[in-house]
Amino acid sequence: MNVTVMLRSVFRRLLKTNPVAGQRSMSQSSLAGKVAIVTASTDGIGLATAEALGKRGAHVVISSRRQANVDKAVALLQSRSVQVTGTTCNVGIGEDREKLVKMTLDKCGAIDILVSNAAVNPFFGNIMDSTEDVWDKILSVNVKSAFLLTKLVVPHMEKRGGGNVVFVSSVAGYQPMHALGPYSVSKTALLGLTRALAPELAHSNIRVNCVAPGIIKTRLSAALWQNEAIMDEFKKQLSIKRIGEPKEIGGVIAFLCSEEASYITGETITVTGGMSSRL
Ligand SMILES: NC(=O)c1ccc[n+]([C@@H]2O[C@H](COP(=O)([O-])OP(=O)(O)OC[C@H]3O[C@@H](n4cnc5c(N)ncnc54)[C@H](OP(=O)(O)O)[C@@H]3O)[C@@H](O)[C@H]2O)c1
Repeated sequence: MNVTVMLRSVFRRLLKTNPVAGQRSMSQSSLAGKVAIVTASTDGIGLATAEALGKRGAHVVISSRRQANVDKAVALLQSRSVQVTGTTCNVGIGEDREKLVKMTLDKCGAIDILVSNAAVNPFFGNIMDSTEDVWDKILSVNVKSAFLLTKLVVPHMEKRGGGNVVFVSSVAGYQPMHALGPYSVSKTALLGLTRALAPELAHSNIRVNCVAPGIIKTRLSAALWQNEAIMDEFKKQLSIKRIGEPKEIGGVIAFLCSEEASYITGETITVTGGMSSRL
């Protein structure tokens, strides 16, 4: 029997014994033992990301501004067999960010993953009508807090010998969306932040990546997907003629945090159903 024939017969025997065993153990345990902080994670993309990381074995620390939302999301994730801890955290407030990190260390003992997902958009209209207050708010929550939270968690990732940071940007970061000028600019800044941090943190075995979603069915984007005329216009730009689901972003983020992505850093993955999205 030559080597190829031998390997083929061994492989066939393995498949007969348990055709899905290999797949199952990889998807369910690739993040076993890891501790993941996901911000703004009581709804939408953040919640789906927490579930995706939790399903792969991570202990997830979820948070958002309202205790009632935290309690509801913790109960939901627990009902889906995810190991989860929850707390309130408005990412725009320094003491809240510190409290989130301290609570994670106290309850879970370590930090391996940070998904910085929070964003606000308090302004719709012509960019020339936006005020200093609007810019302060958007840049503080969408950009500055992403960096400052990263700065807080990096020393703890270093103690673990490495880690992963993922920022949630947007397709609007590549092509500013109509009436969403300041928000779009803040999302472009995250593409730059990813590139700026990746080489510096590679020395500590920390990978820094970013995901840029297209239109995903969440509360934030309801004004778009609930309006048929707007959606018809958007669909012209899509190859896959439907709106995305939060779990389609969560899965990509979980991949970026896994060993399967061990040679990816400084990268932004667009998840847009084929919408044109390059600078
Ligand atoms: N949906 C889309 O089509 C789309 C497209 C591209 C990019 N994105 C990006 O994806 C991310 C998540 O958006 P989403 O659509 O999933 O939103 P979403 O469904 O509206 O959920 C927003 C979550 O953020 C929390 N939150 C809001 N402000 C916060 C703050 N200052 N600090 C902490 N938590 C806060 C909310 O809970 P509380 O109210 O309890 O705080 C909630 O859990 C954002 O960065 C967004 O820009 C979304």
